[in-house]
Amino acid sequence: MEPVKVGLLGLGTVGGGTVNVLARNGEEIARRAGRALVIAKAFTRSPDKPRICDLSGIELATDPWQVVDDPEIAIVAELIGGTDIARELVLGAIERGKHVVTANKALIALHGNEIFARASEKGVMVAFEAAVAGGIPIIKVLREGLAGNRIEWLAGIINGTGNFILTAMRDQGRDFDDVLAEAQRLGYAEADPTFDVEGIDAAHKLTILAAIAFGIPLQFDRVYTEGITRITQEDVRYAEELGYRIKHLGIARRRENGVELRVHPCLVPARRLLANVDGVMNAVVVKGDAVGPTLYYGPGAGAEPTASAVVADLVDVVRTMTADPENRVPHLAFQPDALSDLPPLPMAAVETAYYLRLRVADRPGVLADVARILAGENISIEAVIQKEPQLGQTDVPLIFLTHRVQECAFDAALERITALDSVKAPPYRIRLETLE
Ligand code: NDP
Ligand code: HSE
Repeated sequence: MEPVKVGLLGLGTVGGGTVNVLARNGEEIARRAGRALVIAKAFTRSPDKPRICDLSGIELATDPWQVVDDPEIAIVAELIGGTDIARELVLGAIERGKHVVTANKALIALHGNEIFARASEKGVMVAFEAAVAGGIPIIKVLREGLAGNRIEWLAGIINGTGNFILTAMRDQGRDFDDVLAEAQRLGYAEADPTFDVEGIDAAHKLTILAAIAFGIPLQFDRVYTEGITRITQEDVRYAEELGYRIKHLGIARRRENGVELRVHPCLVPARRLLANVDGVMNAVVVKGDAVGPTLYYGPGAGAEPTASAVVADLVDVVRTMTADPENRVPHLAFQPDALSDLPPLPMAAVETAYYLRLRVADRPGVLADVARILAGENISIEAVIQKEPQLGQTDVPLIFLTHRVQECAFDAALERITALDSVKAPPYRIRLETLE
């Protein structure tokens, strides 16, 4: 059989990794796919830039439409990123009857509903395994491996850069900006790294996971998103003292009247596997009603781990190119006309436990005042730490862990606690999940 010709859009970290993996494992990949896969053409806007891969044998184009328009190219791999030019190119490829593979979670989270609808009309596939959790085949797991389950919840560390930063802060006491710069050098971070540290990238990924897990449309704008920039070394230490680790989690939970969709820092018991996922590694726990809790672990970013997922998608597409479009796995796991209207819930309705860090005046009655306010909202306290004042200081840190409560009740208590004249700095709260 003739080799299948692939056109690459983008030759950066993921594009370069894809060239390398296909070059190194081409023979074995052909045995899996049933046909050889050849990168015939690749777009880059800077052909003279040094690359991590050998480009010999690949025709370079400085206009991406030269790749998309080429009638010889059967699969376009979009590895540019962003939602402007990437959206135009992906829709352009679909219009021309080409299959698409992409690592672009922003594109899928924001424009996936439109892209998949158009792809279904044209009978082509859009594969996006690399868009979530780098090298972990979590899309495949949710779409196929767990298809017999009613998914109850999933929770994951789904941003490698953020986990890399939190791990280095905890283990090496390193400064946030310094670790972020290293993550950028290693090719882990997004073009705009605020996407990583403010939770936007994780929210893109959670949008995709939740759609596939629950059979709901992609709804990025309904995900509550909070980043890791307010976490201090102090919080990391207090969490450890209380038997927890701070992780940046994406959580999607099915409730009776809707679905929780949230990305935020979270205290996780130190004994949980998820609490011990360090560095650039990602992990996702998925709880299905039949299988119970399952855990998927692997590198969440980087050239070859991500290329592993891109190439797996290329193989999948080649294997199913000849299958009747009606018989392919649906893009979002559920048949497009069978999506549920289960609404995303507001954060006020979310139920979770809390870590609360206060800086208070060191005088009698302060702890009792805070405890009284919490009790007034029916919030039960699980643990308290009060530290000695440091030499020359009159304020002390006061840390509370609470039991589970509705976020609206916690917010009401927090407002009253913030207003106490004994509270000397804006309180900081981190949600806490035992993941049982
Ligand atoms: P890079 O910045 O390393 O590479 C992007 C490539 O696209 C480069 O070739 C760049 O050109 C080109 N490019 C960027 N912007 C434009 C533009 N506006 N117009 C034309 N060309 C452009 O990014 P990555 O490889 O890291 O990421 C690519 C995609 O993969 C993104 O969607 C990202 O979110 C996703 N991803 C990345 C992972 C990672 O670990 N890095 C992991 C999982 C997904 P030039 O070479 O000239 O700069
Ligand atoms: N910037 C992303 C991360 C790349 O750090 O997880 C992988 O999606």
